[in-house]
Amino acid sequence: MPKKRKKQPANATRGLITKVDPKSPVSEQYRTIRTNLHFASIDQELKTIMVTSSNPSEGKSTTIANLAVVLAQQGNSVLLIDADMRKPSVHYTFRCPNTKGLTTVLTKQASLEEAVFASDVENLHILTSGPIPPNPSELLSSKAMELMLTSAKVTYDFVLLDTPPVLAVTDAQVLGNICEGVVLVVSSGKTEVEQAVRAKDLLEKSKAKILGVVLNEKEVKQSQYYYYGK
Ligand SMILES: Nc1ncnc2c1ncn2[C@@H]1O[C@H](COP(=O)(O)OP(=O)(O)OP(=O)(O)O)[C@@H](O)[C@H]1O
Ligand SMILES: [Mg+2]
Repeated sequence: MPKKRKKQPANATRGLITKVDPKSPVSEQYRTIRTNLHFASIDQELKTIMVTSSNPSEGKSTTIANLAVVLAQQGNSVLLIDADMRKPSVHYTFRCPNTKGLTTVLTKQASLEEAVFASDVENLHILTSGPIPPNPSELLSSKAMELMLTSAKVTYDFVLLDTPPVLAVTDAQVLGNICEGVVLVVSSGKTEVEQAVRAKDLLEKSKAKILGVVLNEKEVKQSQYYYYGK
């Protein structure tokens, strides 16, 4: 994923280049990830997809939010779930309240229908994290979580999950076990090779199916943008 240039339109939504500038080369790259996901789903059901990375701040939330937007722009009905209860951010990205969310659904204080937020991107619904609980891993590994994903799959074409980093807490491994696919984000010049390998090993130990790796924050020379179809 090329590094975004600093200047964005004044009305830029936090990190959502696919929404504010769908024709940009960066948005085109997110559409390439979308195409690759479609190819990966030819022989298997691939509806529940999570994004993770080895460490904090490597671009997990940015990647999954933009992927949610390009899938919705293509006409798929999409639910984006903030399953990063350690550092939730989806409600900031989509500027929605976080009084209800995943934790409220898992603790049966609200139904999925009651807790989702219709974003201003057509076809894209958001389930924010909800109030942060003391026991995120327990909630994420509960039967309620599996049931919630099963019922979300009936309503939506794609259910995307943002998660915490693999090397920090077990949550991503827990979720990797119940999602149909995992996209691993690696940050150019930041992620250590050994750490990326360790994250991959941990995910595979939990029987996660790694679909591929997104290279984020790669410096791209202006002239190279030509090849992205500008
Ligand atoms: N391709 C990119 N170009 C420029 N900035 C980026 C890019 N990807 C992510 N960022 C910025 O880097 C910061 C961290 O990104 P993001 O929040 O997506 O990472 P994260 O892996 O979800 O972090 P955390 O582990 O804290 O949840 C954000 O400020 C985001 O806007
Ligand atoms: Mg994040």
